[in-house]
Amino acid sequence: MKKIIAIGILFGVFLYSCVHEPMDGESFSDPTPYVFSTPAGFPPPNLPSDNPLTVEGIELGRRLFYDPILSADSTISCGNCHAPNASFADTSRFSKGIRGQFGYRQSMPLFNLAWVNEFFWDGRASSLRKQIHFPIEDPVEMGERVGNVVQKLNQQPRYRKMFKKAFQVNEVTDTLMFKAIEQFLLTMVSSDSKFDQWRRGEVQLSQQELYGLQIFEKEIYNTTVTDVRLIPPPPGTLVGADCFHCHGNRNNPFFSNNFGYQNNGLDAVPSDSGRMLVTKDPTDYGKFKIPTLRNWGFTFPYMHDGRFQTIDQVLDHYEKPNPLSPNLDPGSIGKSATYGLRLRVYERTALKAFLNTLNDTAFTTNQRYQSPFR
Ligand code: HEC
Ligand code: HEC
Repeated sequence: MKKIIAIGILFGVFLYSCVHEPMDGESFSDPTPYVFSTPAGFPPPNLPSDNPLTVEGIELGRRLFYDPILSADSTISCGNCHAPNASFADTSRFSKGIRGQFGYRQSMPLFNLAWVNEFFWDGRASSLRKQIHFPIEDPVEMGERVGNVVQKLNQQPRYRKMFKKAFQVNEVTDTLMFKAIEQFLLTMVSSDSKFDQWRRGEVQLSQQELYGLQIFEKEIYNTTVTDVRLIPPPPGTLVGADCFHCHGNRNNPFFSNNFGYQNNGLDAVPSDSGRMLVTKDPTDYGKFKIPTLRNWGFTFPYMHDGRFQTIDQVLDHYEKPNPLSPNLDPGSIGKSATYGLRLRVYERTALKAFLNTLNDTAFTTNQRYQSPFR
């Protein structure tokens, strides 16, 4: 009997040491797997196989995202330039970084990143994990060294504990910090706009919104060189705005065609080379990532340099893109650069009504993505 109890105790100790590894006087167990649910109508996401999502990892990532400890003087967090009410972009044309400095590109909204393969306006980061060191080490954004951040985090018992819970380690490392933030970013999903609800058959779109969708998805009217559109199209003719060639269609929940790169005709001589900075290919000069139009109602100002404040200014631009701009998309933009888009007032109104259905307030107000410091 004594023997059995002794073996029992030994076995218990053995079990305990497997599940709970006491460190720093703390015990902990495996992190809780987080089940990523793919919204209806979305393709499967590209989740990294070496960074399984866990409740603890995501919580840690969220805290790091909002913690100014990532910057050199503890004044700037990721959340400063990626604010929830702006769909995690910035309503300022250029974001204020460390010591009051400004960059030269507009902040980008953050959502549905689990389906994106290249990041930034020029696509220079090939994964979220690789993307994260850019703002930390950028002298005008957070102005810090990744190594210093890791050191600061290691000095905070709270972070050591959170890293331990998420990754079962005693020490914070740069890779694990990137992985935690990556986990949080991957879970930011926007899939509940009126458009989504319509696709799921939950609500109706109005006649005007449906008309706007048709305009969005249709080529521009009369595109042959012989018919130069000098004569306005007859009443009742559907005039297309030809947005779908770049920004997707009703079957594309991202409202960007694979986030490819295009020049939409902003300047004759682009001062920012865009995609060419990455590829060194002159045919990429002036091309930028095709941004998503989802949540555009929160992400003003528009374009890589935030030059437009309103959607009407954007549509005015598409009425007559600059024909001298290098590497113009020859299809849609090339045609409107030559002939003008020529949307009639009620067509523009309908297009805007449709675009409005892409705004998802359930996403921007979702508590799961808000700062834990509030
Ligand atoms: C000072 C402002 C600022 C800070 C701080 C900042 N960002 Fe950004 N973020 C930007 C700007 C501006 C861009 C676009 C930059 C470019 O294209 O060169 C951007 C782009 C991004 C993108 C690319 C999105 C896409 O769709 O391609 C991601 C992801 C991102 N930031 C995440 C973060 C994270 C995570 C942090 C914190 C570690 C952070 N940012 C800190 C301003 C900032
Ligand atoms: C040839 C591809 C192409 C077509 C066609 C096109 N766009 Fe764009 N769009 C882009 C690119 C590329 C950008 C980013 C350009 C930049 O910042 O330099 C952009 C930017 C935008 C933005 C700003 C988004 C932001 O977050 O800053 C809006 C809004 C927009 N487009 C709406 C439209 C609408 C509406 C149409 C149809 C009238 C349209 N686009 C047609 C490629 C295109």
